Amino acid sequence: MNAGPIPATAASTRALNRQLLRIVIVGHVDHGKSTLVGRLFNDTGSLPEGKLEAIRKMCERRGMPFEWAFLMDAMQAERDQGITIDTSQIWFKTEKRDYTIIDAPGHKEFLKNMITGAAQSDAAVLVIDATEGVQEQSRRHGYLLHLLGVRQIAVAVNKMDAVAYREDVFAEIETEYRAYLASIGVTPTFVIPVSAREGDNIALPSQNMDWYNGPTVVGSLDSFNLPMAHLDRPLRFPVQDVYKFDDRRIIAGRIESGRLHVGDELIFSPSNKTARVKSIETWPEPSDPDGKPETVSAGQCVGVTLDEQLFVERGDMASHTKNPPVETEVFRARIFWLGRSALEKGKSYKMKLATGEARVTVQEIEHVLDTTDLSSSTTQKVERNQVGEVVLRSRRLLALDEHTRNGRTGRFVLIDGYDIAGGGIISMEGYADQRSLVTQRAQNITRVEHGVPTDDRERQNGHKGGVLWFTGLSGAGKSTLATKLERELFDRGYQSYVLDGDNIRFGLNANLGFSPEDRAENIRRVGEVAALFSRAGMLAITAFISPYRSDRDRARVAAGEHFHEIYIKADLETCEQRDPKGLYRKARSGEIKEFTGISAPYEAPETAELVIDTSALSVDDAISELMAYVDKTFRK
Ligand code: ADX
Repeated sequence: MNAGPIPATAASTRALNRQLLRIVIVGHVDHGKSTLVGRLFNDTGSLPEGKLEAIRKMCERRGMPFEWAFLMDAMQAERDQGITIDTSQIWFKTEKRDYTIIDAPGHKEFLKNMITGAAQSDAAVLVIDATEGVQEQSRRHGYLLHLLGVRQIAVAVNKMDAVAYREDVFAEIETEYRAYLASIGVTPTFVIPVSAREGDNIALPSQNMDWYNGPTVVGSLDSFNLPMAHLDRPLRFPVQDVYKFDDRRIIAGRIESGRLHVGDELIFSPSNKTARVKSIETWPEPSDPDGKPETVSAGQCVGVTLDEQLFVERGDMASHTKNPPVETEVFRARIFWLGRSALEKGKSYKMKLATGEARVTVQEIEHVLDTTDLSSSTTQKVERNQVGEVVLRSRRLLALDEHTRNGRTGRFVLIDGYDIAGGGIISMEGYADQRSLVTQRAQNITRVEHGVPTDDRERQNGHKGGVLWFTGLSGAGKSTLATKLERELFDRGYQSYVLDGDNIRFGLNANLGFSPEDRAENIRRVGEVAALFSRAGMLAITAFISPYRSDRDRARVAAGEHFHEIYIKADLETCEQRDPKGLYRKARSGEIKEFTGISAPYEAPETAELVIDTSALSVDDAISELMAYVDKTFRK
């Protein structure tokens, strides 16, 4: 009996609380993935009774030789007709645990599915044909697994029967592929000589290869670890929709990680509004109102109501107030590009991350990697099938995670026109989480009017207050020009004061170093202080590297219309030659870490009010230009 669909059957017999590992089987076309899958099912006893017989009979009827791959085709045909319950995953089981094979090898959209996260796997079997050796696809797939963070990899060197089970053939392939994987930082857990067709080393140790004493494919899979459950990670609940039901607003979505309880305080990023969970709603509604769940967890689709009416919309990310996602306008990504036209610096794309969408612009292309030979270049284009290490920027704050912290909310896809053009994973290396910079903690505070209006101050001083925000690399000449300008302004009757990076770090900012977070906080404080000077009627001249655009933009907002960004420009080479404090030398030798321009980013201004090129101007000429600018802008 039981000619029913395999996946559904296997799935339904899956005992509860059995372990489940999700695997992908990748490799070049024709290297025998389907045969391997057929064998895995058969040799682990996961096929429903009669299934194999049915296929053998079918082959006889049609007068063709039996192929294990037909099993795979048959299962796929059932899936395509929608017969099976679970449409994307097929199951087999060993004594130890259950396995789902994510997506079917040979599926046209396979690469895309892996990249977009439609297929997320815990481990992989990478198939290489012993008669053909390592191919382009073998390398590309290896790289992709690495990129997506799949660390448990078994390499199956297949069709060993076709090379007379020769050890030297296997050894050569093993050496070559291990060398490739090592160069991208991957150590395959096992490299196994197999014949999927003959059943060598699939579930049973081969009688034909005495020289091999490692595990079989099944043995290697069974030795893999289960991933840290999404359950144990911090809560991420991306808002899919908000429904109004009678007087209730139900926030619906899928819990991507963690758990959510009634009564929990949630924060919605990036709006940062908070409220408590009043109830968890499910569909259909339980007839007994007390039947509503108190807790839901990763993988479940739910709706929640809150104890306060917040304006929440699709794309917002709910979390607990502790362990919220990162908030940022800029991040680093590794993107696997599939687009017909190349990814280019300055182009913008629609980004989809969890349920959210945002427009992002390619700010920087730092490296381009050819995944087949791993040659790296610094061109400004990422072509199809290449991997780009890029910096992306959006106009508004985004809520996201680093991929190493959360695989679900740490990846995204880019859409070019209507097509999925690439998928990437997120890193925040060199960039700060902006959450603490945009969060106001104090409550119950009210503004107080000043005794002296700004107009009165300006009249008395004979000039307007303002901020002259100098930004540029270390050694560009910020402090030199700032202090000279201060003197010149003083002599001409201006009220001015220099806030200098090094000086402020002796006092107000003595507790800050040079990590991205500390630099951001450094600039936040100085931005606020400069704004106070400006409102006090003075000209504040600030000399800070201020390497991040977002930080400078916030300083601009703090000071309002009297903020003037002045780019003290000199290229890295010039600054390094000058090296007035000997810091570049130390940075190059590794003595100073996170040094701007060498090992930490500098984002040059795009819309500075004034650019002073110190590699072209003398100090006196630069001061004249600055004086002229101040007179024009601030004299009453
Ligand atoms: S910022 O990046 O946070 O704006 P800031 O202008 O305050 O930097 O301080 C920069 C000064 O600190 C430099 O002129 C240099 O003298 C010193 N410095 C020490 N370590 C570093 C570093 N890792 N990167 C940059 N500057 C550093």
